[in-house]
Amino acid sequence: MVNLIDRFGRIHNYLRISVTDNCNFRCFYCNPNSAKDCNTGKDSLLSFEEISRVINLFSSHFGFNKFRFTGGEPLVRKGFIDYLSDIQKLKNKLNFKVGLTTNGYLLSYYLPKIIDAGIDYINISLDTLDRIKFKQITKIDVFDNVLNSIYNTLDYGFDNLKINVVVMKGINDDEILDFVHFAITKNINIRFIEYMPFSDNDWNKEDFFSYFDMKSIIETKYKLIADNTNNNSVAKDFILSGYNGKISFISSISEHFCNSCNRVRIASNGDFRTCLFSDDKKSLNFKYLFKNGFDDNDIALKVIEMINDKWEKHPDEISLKKLKSNNMFMIGG
Ligand code: GTP
Ligand code: 5AD
Ligand code: SF4
Repeated sequence: MVNLIDRFGRIHNYLRISVTDNCNFRCFYCNPNSAKDCNTGKDSLLSFEEISRVINLFSSHFGFNKFRFTGGEPLVRKGFIDYLSDIQKLKNKLNFKVGLTTNGYLLSYYLPKIIDAGIDYINISLDTLDRIKFKQITKIDVFDNVLNSIYNTLDYGFDNLKINVVVMKGINDDEILDFVHFAITKNINIRFIEYMPFSDNDWNKEDFFSYFDMKSIIETKYKLIADNTNNNSVAKDFILSGYNGKISFISSISEHFCNSCNRVRIASNGDFRTCLFSDDKKSLNFKYLFKNGFDDNDIALKVIEMINDKWEKHPDEISLKKLKSNNMFMIGG
């Protein structure tokens, strides 16, 4: 086993795997042009056996101890829920943690199986507490399903639940205190996320709402106390003095956290990405490697080559907008 360390001394031990670019939502900040959805044909997706091989490789060669399934929406991939029992077996053998990022629509329905399979962390996206606005953002009228998924997950006594709120000026910046109230009453972790630019979304500076502004709004009513217990996270965590719940900020644009980055990714088409905004000069595709008979040692060497080229930090937002083939629904965040 060797550590996967880049030129800046960052040890990588967390792989995010996008299992599909399909989604049952059409959030405008992620995929405004739905014609571009479903680019990844069935033949390009990694099969479940191949995903297990990837996990085995990163765990045994590089000591990875955390994997997260993302999409698109992972729960729309056929067979994914049944596959989780294989993951459980792998977990028992290799000893790692598993997370799931979901839009919450189908979560309630699959929750018993997901919990039984020993998933460690669940992150649910919910950008508004208003049913009408929910439909405007997602283009689907399933606010109650998402809310029920959150409640049901809590009813299971599941501790590691986080709610992701992408904050956009003029859309939901007026709901920040409502979300804080939600965090308090449900005793959960709400994470406010800065809206990020991708080549395939309509990001512009006018829609951007910074972490500083979010924090100031909350501080008009509450005292935030930094909570540094989870120091390898992308989020800045805070407790609310005197109250339940936890508030976090993911400030990718105004105060990036690239210096502590421990993540790599595999996009839905099998592309290996050293960064969320990757513009990797070299490319590495796991589907190609598996189809062409590369063995795990060869692949591990290629991964090391890629990590040696990882950039120190992502470029500014204007340059990010210009990057090609960079979209959220294939990379999964
Ligand atoms: P955990 O830390 O494992 O809970 O996961 P997470 O917060 O990284 O995962 P999630 O899929 O819930 O993503 C939440 C937000 O963080 C999304 O907007 C992601 O795009 C963003 N995000 C996740 N990882 C990174 C990263 O390495 N860099 C940046 N800039 N944003 C990230
Ligand atoms: N900026 C910030 N977060 C985003 N997400 C999707 N698109 C963006 C964006 N442009 C979030 C989703 C989900 C997580 C995977 O990434 O809301 O919670
Ligand atoms: Fe890591 Fe890239 Fe995210 Fe920075 S933007 S933390 S380098 S994945």
